[in-house]
Amino acid sequence: MSKTTVAAPANIAFIKYWGARDLERALPMNSSISMTLDHCVTRCTVEILDGGHDEVWLSEPDGGFGSPEAEFTRRVVEQLDRVRQWAGREEPFRVATRNTFPSAAGLASSASGFAALTLAAAGALGRKDAPARELSQLSRRSGSGSAARSVLGGYVEWPDPGGIGKVGGIDDEPSYAIQLADASHWDLRDVIAVVEIGPKVVSSRDGHRLAHTSPYYTKRLELVPERLQKVRRAIETRDFDLLGPVLEEESTDLHMIAMTSQPPIFYWSPGTVAVLRAVRELRQEGLAAFATLDAGANVHVICDPDSEDEVAERLEDLPAVGFVIRDGVGDGPEHETTHLF
Ligand code: DP6
Repeated sequence: MSKTTVAAPANIAFIKYWGARDLERALPMNSSISMTLDHCVTRCTVEILDGGHDEVWLSEPDGGFGSPEAEFTRRVVEQLDRVRQWAGREEPFRVATRNTFPSAAGLASSASGFAALTLAAAGALGRKDAPARELSQLSRRSGSGSAARSVLGGYVEWPDPGGIGKVGGIDDEPSYAIQLADASHWDLRDVIAVVEIGPKVVSSRDGHRLAHTSPYYTKRLELVPERLQKVRRAIETRDFDLLGPVLEEESTDLHMIAMTSQPPIFYWSPGTVAVLRAVRELRQEGLAAFATLDAGANVHVICDPDSEDEVAERLEDLPAVGFVIRDGVGDGPEHETTHLF
């Protein structure tokens, strides 16, 4: 049977998806904007089987493949069901997946993972060239909403389906991501300071579920529309001075909401604080670099190509930083001819 392999990148949110109007369908409370990365990718190979059941394999540190935890397998199989239903097919699949970066460390591994799985399964069913809109929508329905953004390259917006503050009665169809600009439009870099490896303590899903229990969440929703406008304009005009402060406000907001949710969620570690301080110092020295975190302790430092070396060297020197991943804006998912099995 023929195999389909897709490499899909992670993305880093400039405007964060935090809080859902419908968590099961991953319908967000607010629009989000992200930059698709280049090197942090999940590679997924899918093969249609003649019969039997879906088989799911996950790469292990030694390079081989093993059976993932039951919860992971369940989510993968549910997503395969959605792809089959969308394509009007019933065949079982064999699936193998491997990340090029630490899984579940707040580096959006589920976004790249579910985008890769969805695109590879769609490709295996002969639907490689389906409209991006449908593939984004299908990826979003995995439950990892940010996967909707990972099917596109460059700078991507995933619009809020229902208007800020409106809850319930939302049609499922309109919620998919669109590209604001391709990667060649603006060469930005993401220097990721890894201060913690290993699964995050609290999933983004729990964060979304609890967000509205924070007394600051309503205020956040009021602030998002203006930030969205600023980020869209900053991308359009390649204005880093406009983008940078909004990036940091968004990240601080997300973590403040998490820390004030009931029960509270603390994603930061001491290393996070050390990196945030170093980034402020770099700015005082005249470098344009701004920090943002997703739901984890690791820090993404967004900067222009001229600042990248200095940013990376300074972060590597911090005792709290285990290692640094140098990434940048990328073109989006690719179909590959080399397979994982
Ligand atoms: C903080 O529900 O998409 O990264 O399934 O863990 O990828 P995962 O999370 P998801 O929420 C993403 C939350 C975020 C912000 C963002 O990417 O917009």
